[in-house]
Amino acid sequence: MDPDKQSAERQATILLVDDESINLSVFGQFLAPYYQVLVATSGQRALQLVRGTPKPDLILLDVMMPGMDGYQVIGQLKANPKTVDIPVIFVTALTSDLEEERGLSLGAVDYIYKPCHLSILLARIKTQLELKNARDWLKDQNAYLEAEVQRRHQENQAVHLQLLQSEKLAAIGQLAAGIAHEINNPIGFVSSNLNTLNGYLRDVFAVLDACGAALDEKPLSDQTLQNLRELKQAKQIDYLRGDIPELIAESREGLSRVRDIIQDLKDFAHADKNDWELGDLHKGLDSTLNIIGNELKYRCTVHKQYGEIPQIYCLPSQLNQVFMNLLINAAQAIESKGDIHIRTGCADQNVWVEISDNGNGIAPENLPRLFEPFFTTKPLGKGTGLGLSISQNIVRKHGGRIEVTSQLGQGSRFRVWLPIRPPEFGPAE
Ligand SMILES: Nc1ncnc2c1ncn2[C@@H]1O[C@H](COP(=O)(O)OP(=O)(O)OP(=O)(O)O)[C@@H](O)[C@H]1O
Ligand SMILES: [Mg+2]
Repeated sequence: MDPDKQSAERQATILLVDDESINLSVFGQFLAPYYQVLVATSGQRALQLVRGTPKPDLILLDVMMPGMDGYQVIGQLKANPKTVDIPVIFVTALTSDLEEERGLSLGAVDYIYKPCHLSILLARIKTQLELKNARDWLKDQNAYLEAEVQRRHQENQAVHLQLLQSEKLAAIGQLAAGIAHEINNPIGFVSSNLNTLNGYLRDVFAVLDACGAALDEKPLSDQTLQNLRELKQAKQIDYLRGDIPELIAESREGLSRVRDIIQDLKDFAHADKNDWELGDLHKGLDSTLNIIGNELKYRCTVHKQYGEIPQIYCLPSQLNQVFMNLLINAAQAIESKGDIHIRTGCADQNVWVEISDNGNGIAPENLPRLFEPFFTTKPLGKGTGLGLSISQNIVRKHGGRIEVTSQLGQGSRFRVWLPIRPPEFGPAE
């Protein structure tokens, strides 16, 4: 058997449409060894067959037919998404260039004059089927690639969210350690003061007990009086009189420090609300500084130069997160001992908060990448590279922007600009 006839194209289905049954019979017999052949003697019948199974892979279409002509048939095929991709070859006795042009402009892939050499017809059919297969393959590949891109995009988003989550947890852990340290300190000296006071009270009660016993002695002997004086001396009652109020004042101060830290923590987190409101940026900066003070104080001195700024409409706890990220970055850029300056000011309808450091600065080639998620120059486990990207998102949400200037080896300056009234609030009344 001719190997050609065994090829994959043999599986293809060709629909022959012609009102002359002699043509159908000649073409049909010639093509039958190569393809599955369907025949239709009218346009209407052809349209019925394309809706059934097997769906034709290619249509040989006569132009001049009674009722619906070939141009009308192709018009309907091209208008239907289910049949638009079936290649159509016109096989016609109309031999004018104009007719050929019309056929091709309607979407036919080829135009063959009758009568034609059957082997040429076969070659043209093969070419068109190969083209169709290639097109179908490309379409499948495209669909596969699109699905793959979509799947990977979703996968990336899931990883991104997971990283954000672990970044948040790490930040909370770090903060918690800092806060524990800050609270531990006053708690430590309050509890040591209570121990001292306990000892003092025992001494005071010993003197009081001795006084009580002396009161029962009648008459009071000189010896008892002498003993009392000596006991008072020994227990340093005069010293206790001065030290006890000091210990109490110190303990009160320690407890109020703990209370302030907890209040700052509440302010920082704004745990109870996440609404837009008129916020005081200086208050936000101060409570943020108190929260991360522990992280900063061993490395740098913080200098505050607050200007006159109005309150702004904002999400205060989110802005605090921005300040925290900038301050921690500044501190991390300082290797041993350095300075951080926090300045604020106002221009037109905007306020700005600037955090500058004299740390190691940023290489010029890194400047354009700072706000990319996951861009970090810090060692593994130290930075995730999300701080600035999160901060930029928050600032953009407020209708603001972050400006950066830096000199390698000299330090960096991050200036956050925020509109007093973000755009979504519309103009002030
Ligand atoms: N003040 C600064 N001085 C020097 N380099 C900085 C400063 N702020 C940011 N950078 C550079 O920008 C990079 C990205 O900062 P970002 O805050 O986004 O991530 P990170 O600090 O590396 O990690 P993360 O904030 O997630 O812990 C840093 O790795 C660092 O190279
Ligand atoms: Mg950071």
